[in-house]
Amino acid sequence: MSELKERVMQALSTVIEPELHRDIVSLNMVRDLEVSDGVARFTIVLTTPACPLKDVFIKRCNEAVLGKVEGIERLDIRWDAQVPTDRRIQGMMNVPMRSIIAVASGKGGVGKSTVATNLAVALVEEGAKVGLIDADILNPNIPQMMGLGSGRPKVINNKMQPIEAYGVKVMSTGFLTEPDKPMIMRGPMLHSAIRQFFVDVQWDKLDYMIVDLPPGTGDAPLSLAQSFPLAGAVVVTQPQSVAVADALRAVAMFDQLNVPVLGIVENMTGEFFGSGGGEKLAQERGLTFLGRVPMAATVREGGDYGRPVVVHGRDTAAGEAFVQLARAVAARASVVMMQTANVIPINIIG
Ligand SMILES: Nc1ncnc2c1ncn2[C@@H]1O[C@H](COP(=O)(O)OP(=O)(O)OP(=O)(O)O)[C@@H](O)[C@H]1O
Ligand SMILES: [Mg+2]
Repeated sequence: MSELKERVMQALSTVIEPELHRDIVSLNMVRDLEVSDGVARFTIVLTTPACPLKDVFIKRCNEAVLGKVEGIERLDIRWDAQVPTDRRIQGMMNVPMRSIIAVASGKGGVGKSTVATNLAVALVEEGAKVGLIDADILNPNIPQMMGLGSGRPKVINNKMQPIEAYGVKVMSTGFLTEPDKPMIMRGPMLHSAIRQFFVDVQWDKLDYMIVDLPPGTGDAPLSLAQSFPLAGAVVVTQPQSVAVADALRAVAMFDQLNVPVLGIVENMTGEFFGSGGGEKLAQERGLTFLGRVPMAATVREGGDYGRPVVVHGRDTAAGEAFVQLARAVAARASVVMMQTANVIPINIIG
């Protein structure tokens, strides 16, 4: 390495990753450094393409180098991302995904499927490869919310092919049954249905698999957590105290199952249900508050007509809230994964 390059690297090694609390050079986030004509060009490899901290990195890198390293007048930073890989997933045949995130709640109807849908779509928009499993086997809502109401998966070589919408690869029992026929299943059948959605579906390589759970602390979250290593769970609640009490039960369940709770989302904030219950719960339990989504007709219509608000109403308050939420979830998942022993650290991710 040229002497100038070395001095730039040294300066960049004073830049601390705000959430991992280590410097970006020893985390091996700085790649392909070139210097010429007073410009230092390099790539920062983030732990998620949906990183909310790009501006912080730009500011800190500039502060660390400009005026400190003689001969460098400008930085030209490019971005790349490698989502940490849970190495426990890798041993599972045909499950090529880096991290699995469940969306859960205590109470029904609080907006899990809406959050799961918009979260998945927003992560695609940020540049991630994303799958969405509808683990509400008996009452699948994801096909309608993704505009895939009449979808039927193809089977190739005994593997079901997921159906794609808004760049998200989707699998749901809604694709396999008639809308007016009830699904009648016992616990063990539910368990094997969820398992099949992971192992018998032809998933491509995915950064994130989002799993929409049915409400409550029943069989589905238990099956999921026992069969597959979850990066964590996002717990959705409405602001009012009845919903918050149920959310607390969901949090306690994930604690018992040793699944990290990535944080709390407060949905349907507004005049009707009030505001603040989700944030208060997060504070009281020492959990991350991931964000709040306002009650808005555009969100409901987006679900009814298969036009997720994060795409079709991106510039509305609710659309913007979902973009921020997706970034917060992705950042939190990276931090939580990097803190566990099960993860292949960023510096050896290929
Ligand atoms: N922020 C919001 N503003 C307005 N309507 C919303 C909002 N979030 C969700 N909804 C609507 O509320 C209803 C319930 O949402 P959703 O189906 O996502 O909840 P759920 O928690 O998945 O329900 P279930 O427990 O039955 O699975 C839907 O009609 C949805 O469109
Ligand atoms: Mg639902």
